Amino acid sequence: MHAYNRMMRMFLAVFMLSAATVYAAVPENGKCMGCHGRKDVKSIAGNSVYIDPEKFTATTHSIVGCTSCHDRVSSGHPGDGSAPARAVCGDCHAPVSVEYAKSLHASKARCNDCHNPHEVRLPMFMSGDDINKKCAKCHDARKILKSHAKWLPQAELHIDSLLCITCHTGSQDYVITMSIESRLPGSKDAFKTATYEELAKLTSGDNIGRVIDLNGDNKVSLEELRAFNHHLRGKNMRLWGMMTPEVVTHSYQILENRWDCTFCHASGPKAMQKSFIAFPDKSGGYKRLAVEKGAILDILYGTPDFYMLGTTRSTPLNIIGALIVAAGLSFPVFHGFFRLLTRKNRKEDDHEA
Ligand code: HEC
Ligand code: HEC
Ligand code: HEC
Ligand code: HEC
Ligand code: HEC
Ligand code: HEC
Ligand code: HEC
Repeated sequence: MHAYNRMMRMFLAVFMLSAATVYAAVPENGKCMGCHGRKDVKSIAGNSVYIDPEKFTATTHSIVGCTSCHDRVSSGHPGDGSAPARAVCGDCHAPVSVEYAKSLHASKARCNDCHNPHEVRLPMFMSGDDINKKCAKCHDARKILKSHAKWLPQAELHIDSLLCITCHTGSQDYVITMSIESRLPGSKDAFKTATYEELAKLTSGDNIGRVIDLNGDNKVSLEELRAFNHHLRGKNMRLWGMMTPEVVTHSYQILENRWDCTFCHASGPKAMQKSFIAFPDKSGGYKRLAVEKGAILDILYGTPDFYMLGTTRSTPLNIIGALIVAAGLSFPVFHGFFRLLTRKNRKEDDHEA
C-alpha cells in the first residue's frame, strides 16, 4: 500500500513536471481562475479570494481540480452569495488524518494551518527553510532557540541545519539537502536562500542547475561541486546543508532518542551519504539534483560548510564525534571545548571571503 502510494506520487510528480499546463488537464480550473487568478477580484467583505496561478499549477491538487474540493458551486456564483463547499482533507488523505489525530499536536493546529491547499508540495520540492517556516508561524523562533539551547549545544547551528520535524515526528530516511545561499558581494549580512531570478542571471537559459551542474547531465559530480566551491563559495555564495527526511510522517511527539546525540552524530560513515542540491524554480518550489556519492564525506572540497561530526572520513572530526558519543549528555563541559575545536575550520571559511 505504502509502496503503491509512493509510486503513484512519483508518477504524479513526473506528470506534473511534464504537463505544460494543467488547465488543459482540468478545464474547470480555467473557468474559476478567470476570476480567482486575478488579484483585483475580492469578496464583498473586501477579503482576498486570490489563488496564485503559478503556485497552484505546480501542485498535484491542480490535477484534482477546483471542483473536486469545492463542489456545488452554484450557477449564480459569486453573485448569489452562496459559499461553495470545502472538502475535508481526510476525505482523500485518510492515513495522514488518522496518524495526525493520534499525535500530541492534533489539538494545536489543523491541516490548513500548516498547508495552503492551493500551494501544497511534496517535501522533496521544498527547501528546508520553507518547511521550518510552517512551524515558525506559531512557534516563536527566538523562544524555541532559547528553550532548546538549554540542552542542545550550538543550538542555533542545529536549528539551522535540521527540520523541526526531524526531532518531533517519526519521519525517516535521512539525506542531506543543500541549498544555495547568497549575500551581496562584500557584505557581512546573513546568507539567504538564493532566488530563481538571482541564479538565472548566472546562467544562460532556463536551466539554472547549470550554476553547479556545468555539463548539464542533471547530476552534480564531486568535480563540479569543487569547481563551484572554488569560484563562488566564500565570495557571495555557499551551500547550506540540512538533514532532511525522505519520508515525512505526522506522528508529532517529543522523541526520547533525540536527546541522544548519537542518533545523528555516530551513525557511521555509511549514513547520510546521499545528498542533493535544491535549485529554486519559478513557482517558488525546488527541483533537486543528486550529488555524486561521497560529497558529505569530502568536507574539504565537497561540502566545506557542512560536516556532521562523527560521520565524516576526517580523523580529527571523528575524534570529536567519538567524544560526543562518550560525553553523552554531559555536554556543558564539552560545549566550549567543541566550539574551540571547530572554530578554526569555520574561521578559515570566513577568512576566504
Ligand atoms: C465571475 C468571477 C468568479 C468565478 C468565475 C468564480 N468565482 Fe469563486 N468567488 C468569486 C468572488 C468575487 C468570491 C467572493 C464572494 C463573496 O463576496 O463572498 C468568490 C468566492 C469563492 C469561494 C470562497 C467562498 C467562501 O467560503 O469564502 C470559493 C471556495 C470559490 N469562490 C470557488 C470557486 C470555484 C471552485 C470556481 C469555479 C468553478 C469559482 N469560484 C468561480 C468570483 C468568482
Ligand atoms: C485539495 C482541495 C482543494 C482544491 C483542489 C482547491 N481548493 Fe480552494 N480551498 C480548499 C480548502 C480546504 C479551503 C479552506 C482553507 C482554509 O480554511 O484555510 C479552500 C479555500 C478556498 C477559497 C477561500 C479563500 C482562501 O484562499 O482561503 C477560495 C476562493 C478557493 N478555495 C478557491 C479555489 C479555486 C478557484 C480552486 C481551483 C483553482 C481551488 N480552490 C482548489 C481546498 C481546495
Ligand atoms: C479530492 C481529493 C483531495 C482532497 C480533498 C485533498 N487532497 Fe491533498 N492530495 C490529493 C492527491 C491525489 C494528492 C497526490 C497524491 C498523494 O499524495 O496522495 C495530494 C497531495 C497532497 C500533498 C502533497 C503534495 C503533493 O504534491 O503530492 C499535500 C501536502 C496535501 N495533499 C495536503 C492536503 C490538505 C492539507 C488537504 C485539505 C485542505 C487536502 N490535501 C485535500 C487529493 C486530495
Ligand atoms: C504542524 C504542521 C502540520 C500539520 C498540522 C499537518 N501537516 Fe502535513 N506536512 C507538514 C510538513 C512539515 C510536511 C512536509 C513538507 C510538505 O510537504 O509540506 C507535510 C507533508 C504532508 C503531506 C505529504 C507527505 C509526503 O511526503 O508524502 C501530506 C499529504 C500532508 N502533509 C497532509 C496533511 C493533512 C491531511 C493534514 C491534516 C490531517 C496535515 N498534513 C497536517 C506539516 C503539517
Ligand atoms: C497553528 C499554530 C501551530 C503551528 C503551525 C505549529 N504548532 Fe506546534 N504547537 C502549537 C501550540 C499552540 C502548542 C502548545 C503550546 C506550546 O507548547 O507552544 C504547540 C506545541 C508543540 C510541541 C510541544 C508539545 C508538547 O506537548 O510539549 C511541539 C513539539 C510542536 N508544537 C512542534 C511543532 C512543529 C514541529 C511544527 C511545524 C511542523 C509546529 N509545531 C507547528 C501550535 C502550532
Ligand atoms: C535536535 C532535535 C530537535 C530539534 C531540531 C528541534 N527540537 Fe523541539 N524539542 C526537542 C526535544 C528533545 C524537546 C524536549 C525538551 C524538554 O522537554 O525540555 C523539545 C521540545 C520542544 C517543544 C516543547 C518545549 C518548548 O520549548 O516549548 C516545542 C514547542 C518544540 N520543541 C518545537 C520545536 C520547533 C518549532 C523546532 C524547529 C524550529 C524544534 N522544536 C526543533 C528536540 C528538538
Ligand atoms: C537530529 C540530529 C542531531 C542531533 C540529535 C544532534 N546533532 Fe549535533 N549536529 C547535527 C547537524 C545536522 C549539525 C550541523 C552540521 C553542519 O552544519 O556543519 C550538528 C552540529 C553539531 C556541532 C557543531 C560542529 C561545528 O561544526 O561547529 C556540535 C558540537 C554538535 N552537533 C554536538 C551535538 C551534541 C553534543 C548533541 C547531543 C546533545 C547533538 N549534537 C545532537 C545534527 C544533530
